[in-house]
Amino acid sequence: MSHHLTITPRSELDFKLDDQDLPRHWFGGDPFKTRYFDAMSLSFPDGERLFMMAVRAFKHTITDLALQEDIKDFNRQEGQHGIIHNQFNEVLRRQGIDIDKVLRVQNYIQFNIYWKYFPKAYNLAATAALEHLTATMVYGFFDHGPVMQDADPRVRAMYAWHAIEELEHKSVAFDVMQQGARVGYIVRCLAMLQCTLHFSIYSYLAVNFLLKADGFGFWQRLRIMGKGMAWLYGPKGVFTALAGHFFSYFKPGFHPNKVALSPSYERWSTAYARAGDPIAASNELYAA
Ligand SMILES: [Fe+2]
Ligand SMILES: [Fe+2]
Repeated sequence: MSHHLTITPRSELDFKLDDQDLPRHWFGGDPFKTRYFDAMSLSFPDGERLFMMAVRAFKHTITDLALQEDIKDFNRQEGQHGIIHNQFNEVLRRQGIDIDKVLRVQNYIQFNIYWKYFPKAYNLAATAALEHLTATMVYGFFDHGPVMQDADPRVRAMYAWHAIEELEHKSVAFDVMQQGARVGYIVRCLAMLQCTLHFSIYSYLAVNFLLKADGFGFWQRLRIMGKGMAWLYGPKGVFTALAGHFFSYFKPGFHPNKVALSPSYERWSTAYARAGDPIAASNELYAA
């Protein structure tokens, strides 16, 4: 069964990220879980800027008017994600962390290597691959049990909103890649493998950097990272539960709209329409 969601860009959202009582380790006091998500947040503003550039590079090749509209709304959503994650990244800066060190390296790799030397079609294939991973967030963090139960409701709400909107625009880059850039199966799969490897290496280096900034010594970081890996990849790990979603991308007939819709989508959208507040909507996903 295939579906197509309406892309609804939401703006002027207030996650109360400036609150002074936001704990440093906002994920239940757990340094690994907190810093893993923080590493993701650091990657979003520039990462999603590159996604928009890659889609825009092929916009003129799209004749389907509905897809043209979706591209506009995709840009508006990703633009908002960048704004809010920049706000959150300021919180990290206020914690005294030199996040520009991470951002500079990331920026250089993305714009001075990938964007400059790799074909535009490959950048779009990488975008479609990473969009599949971000569209998987909602299943991992909000569908499969109480993964984010202990997280601070304000930061959790930011991820819930982001995950929901990723679900809404999950097919845009993929459709532009197929219809506009005409990327074939092999390149699509290669881009996914390369992006997964790249993002995994980036995450662990960034988490290590953030934990170091927290003052943890080498052996402490090793222990924290080991425990964190089990949380992600163990038998009941967060990512282990998502293996099916991840590998579905490699099916030759894959399309994002064929992936079964997350039940969290309906719950969050209804709650948000009722309350007009992303924190209340996210809390609803965690209500008993
Ligand atoms: Fe996004
Ligand atoms: Fe996205």
